[in-house]
Amino acid sequence: MTTTLDAIHPVAYDGDAVILLDQRLLPGREEYLRCHTAADVAAGIRDMVVRGAPAIGITAAYGIALAAHRAPDAAAGFATAVEDAARIIGASRPTAVNLHWAIARMMGRFHAMAGAGADAIRAAFDAEARDIHDEDVAMNRAIGRHGAALIPDGATVLTHCNAGALATGGYGTALGVIRGAREAGKSVRIIACETRPYLQGARLTAWELVRDGFDVTLITDNAAGALMAKGLVTCCVVGADRITANGDTANKIGTYTHAVLATRHAIPFYVAAPSSTLDPTLPDGSFIPIEERSADEVLYLQGHRVAAEGVKVINPSFDVTPWSLITAIITERGVHRPGPLGYGFTRQP
Ligand code: MRU
Repeated sequence: MTTTLDAIHPVAYDGDAVILLDQRLLPGREEYLRCHTAADVAAGIRDMVVRGAPAIGITAAYGIALAAHRAPDAAAGFATAVEDAARIIGASRPTAVNLHWAIARMMGRFHAMAGAGADAIRAAFDAEARDIHDEDVAMNRAIGRHGAALIPDGATVLTHCNAGALATGGYGTALGVIRGAREAGKSVRIIACETRPYLQGARLTAWELVRDGFDVTLITDNAAGALMAKGLVTCCVVGADRITANGDTANKIGTYTHAVLATRHAIPFYVAAPSSTLDPTLPDGSFIPIEERSADEVLYLQGHRVAAEGVKVINPSFDVTPWSLITAIITERGVHRPGPLGYGFTRQP
């Protein structure tokens, strides 16, 4: 079965602007925002117009390509504009390593072209950013094929946040596994956790799965344990924002809680991510920078205050699930099982 969401583009680029599907407005409205400068692109990432680790990496790459088109031709001014864009966009969100990976890849291309003219570099940037985008979709499809083998026919899969087409170049990582299972002829039901405080599960995962014809049920994050205890969850599949050398995984806040619950109930817990999410430079999850977002995300729901005046708030946007709670990590290279001796990303099932 094919997926209709191939027609949805969370990120696009036309040489004049980076075009973002405004995910803040979903599921109510489908509107696109045109970003004309690196500062616009950084704001789009910071304000969650676009979100999801691979999608913000792709956006960052297009943002640097865009800045090169806006830059003066003279070598010094051109280099300053490109470096400023990399710095401004790189500062937009800290946790997802894909953002920094994509910027490093674009800047690597830039430094390899030292002495080339501005137009040659602009063309190379456009091509590199488009490659990053296309490769992400290809990696997601490979993740979907590898992951499909882990999903039994008739499974009910619990997922958290949105690791779907909206969070990537298209197709998705965790939702790519679910799409892959369906394309392999399996029947799959999905439990989407609403994902407080930003409601990526309720607003985005439910939207893209319903739109794609899946059987999807929304639950509050707090209900996951009760459903697991009743035997209603076959396995969990989530995405990732950064995976360290030992397999520890940063993902949306609440992921760790699901992993603890899944372990308690002997339910397989899978992480699906492309290799652009791997950060072998960090030995373990304690080194991952965790973004703290505005208190208002917790104090207000859709513009309505839901908490007492004067209360304090802690709002970490991500948590770290230790490798020991992860049954397997699915990348485009295959299915990898973390173990006590570390995580080499080379092991096959
Ligand atoms: O704050 P967000 O919405 O950018 O967080 C997104 C997630 O945590 C996703 O699960 C992760 O980026 C993987 S997306 C394929």
